[in-house]
Amino acid sequence: MKPENRSAFNFINSYIKRYWLLVLFGIVAIIFSSFIQTIIPVITAAVIDYIRAIHTGAEYKVPLYGFITAENQSPKIVLLWLGLALTGVAVVLAVARILSRIYLISISRHVEYDMLNDYLRHLQKMSQHFFQQNKTGDLMARATSDIGAIRRLTGPAIIQFSSTLVMFIFALYFMLRISIPLTFIALAPLPFIVFIVYSRVGKIHALFNRIQEQISQLTSRAQENFSGIRVIKSYVREKFEIEAFKEENDEYIRRNISLARVDSFLHAWLEFLLGLGLIAVIWLGGRQAIDGSITLGELVAMISYVGMLGWPMISVGILLNIWQRGLAAAQRVQEVLNAPADIRDSEMTRAMSDISGDLEFKNVSFVYPGTAKAVLTNISLRVPRGKKLAIVGATGAGKTSLVHLIPRLYEPTEGQILIDGVDIKTIPLQLLRRCIGLVQQESFLFSDSIADNIAFGIIEHDEDAISRAAEASQLKLDIDQFPDGLETIIGERGITLSGGQKQRTSISRAVLKSPRILILDDALSAVDTYTEEEILRALRPIMCERTTIIVAHRISTIRDADHIIVLQDGVIAEEGTHQQLLEKKGIYFDMHERQKLEEKLLEID
Ligand code: UTP
Ligand code: MG
Repeated sequence: MKPENRSAFNFINSYIKRYWLLVLFGIVAIIFSSFIQTIIPVITAAVIDYIRAIHTGAEYKVPLYGFITAENQSPKIVLLWLGLALTGVAVVLAVARILSRIYLISISRHVEYDMLNDYLRHLQKMSQHFFQQNKTGDLMARATSDIGAIRRLTGPAIIQFSSTLVMFIFALYFMLRISIPLTFIALAPLPFIVFIVYSRVGKIHALFNRIQEQISQLTSRAQENFSGIRVIKSYVREKFEIEAFKEENDEYIRRNISLARVDSFLHAWLEFLLGLGLIAVIWLGGRQAIDGSITLGELVAMISYVGMLGWPMISVGILLNIWQRGLAAAQRVQEVLNAPADIRDSEMTRAMSDISGDLEFKNVSFVYPGTAKAVLTNISLRVPRGKKLAIVGATGAGKTSLVHLIPRLYEPTEGQILIDGVDIKTIPLQLLRRCIGLVQQESFLFSDSIADNIAFGIIEHDEDAISRAAEASQLKLDIDQFPDGLETIIGERGITLSGGQKQRTSISRAVLKSPRILILDDALSAVDTYTEEEILRALRPIMCERTTIIVAHRISTIRDADHIIVLQDGVIAEEGTHQQLLEKKGIYFDMHERQKLEEKLLEID
């Protein structure tokens, strides 16, 4: 086995192992059912030979089970016994089959269940960088289509494999007892079958991988289409998108058809070879039956065995296919599971239970992973506990990037960020993030009630606290107009709310969390200046106890901050209080004048 296949195999095995008892029961049931199945031709042979013996008047002993003897019994009784034996075998066979399937299929479902849980758990640990590199559709395809292929490998494939193997062994035993040369003739095509199947497996494997890649592509496209439906519609891009999707879909069907072609040729060849085996058995076995070296019943039994083994032999091909697909899928799932969570607790992490919120940046520089340009260069700043820092600067200056470093959504490339004098890398990640309330520039809401969105991440909360948080962000008035108040369900990503309502829901969420460090990243951009002032007024008592960072474009938002920094191309271009900065007559002053003018113009309007 190739090393990557071996590792995929070990990976799947680590999941199956947990259910070893079920595997054991399942395999025992399979061995039993396959054995029972191979007995049927023996009984049929007895029936035929017995009837023939009666016709010819020859003596014939039913070669089965000592407890019935054909001697001195009327044919009616003997046939009845044989009939009952066949029925009994069929019943036992059915029960054993049902049990084996119940056991083994449930294992495959358990494996799928465990794997999906692990998959999601792992993805939750991954950083933003990972999700920028891996498309949602691709990650979804791995969770659905690939884990599905692994499930088929663990359930149906184990059933197929073990029943084929066991049936083969038992059938071989009965066949050899009938006639050794005839058995060899019947099995002569086997090496060819194995060879053909083996030679095609690599091709099937490659084709299958290409199909999976295309499924990922297709899912990504569909997913982007649905989430961007409003943009698509407003730019009248429906036709284009339909066409683009169709192209991806065409490629998908092309790849599927080439796999089907390889598959069906393989199938046809296998059927042909099995047919040859059958012809040989009839040709040689027929002559043996005529010259009496085997009985007619035995010839029929032999033909039954060839038929019985035919399907499993072909299924070896299918099985190898499932096997290859399962291994390829396991490799794809492993790729994700093995991707290291790059931002996590390390051995440097201290035991801490709280932080007070004294924040400091020491010569921090930052380059987005995989890019070359520094987004932040040599940033040093300090926000004492309970103070308010404001960040302004042109779009693309690096404001969002700067605040994302604080809850470790990204790591600085150089320099250090300290909270309460310790490097944030040594603060337990969960504690750090719990103590920071970040209102993102683009609010994300879940399709849930407003209350649940505000109380997101807080396990125990009460209606009053949610209400107060909604009041602080001036959302209360809006909520009172909704049909179900706080319990109103908002559409996917908050589609039924206005931009300002979404932003205020996000602010309420951060307020309810009662964080030590509150970060508002352009969180008031979608509300009018009046509402902004109201929100700021309501937030004032909350902010005065906490370290606050406000990113804003409007100077009105940040006028009263304790310290203001002006970012330009990732460097601190100016800093000071509002008054100091105005006196400098630099970038900040220009911004201020421009905004004052705009306000005046608005008033004239
Ligand atoms: P920011 O997103 O930090 O800018 O991106 P900003 O100051 O907050 O801008 P506005 O006011 O919200 O618009 C800073 C630079 O980092 C790059 C962006 O292209 C931009 O040039 N960037 C951002 C990345 O390279 N990767 C990202 O994931 C995000
Ligand atoms: Mg930004």
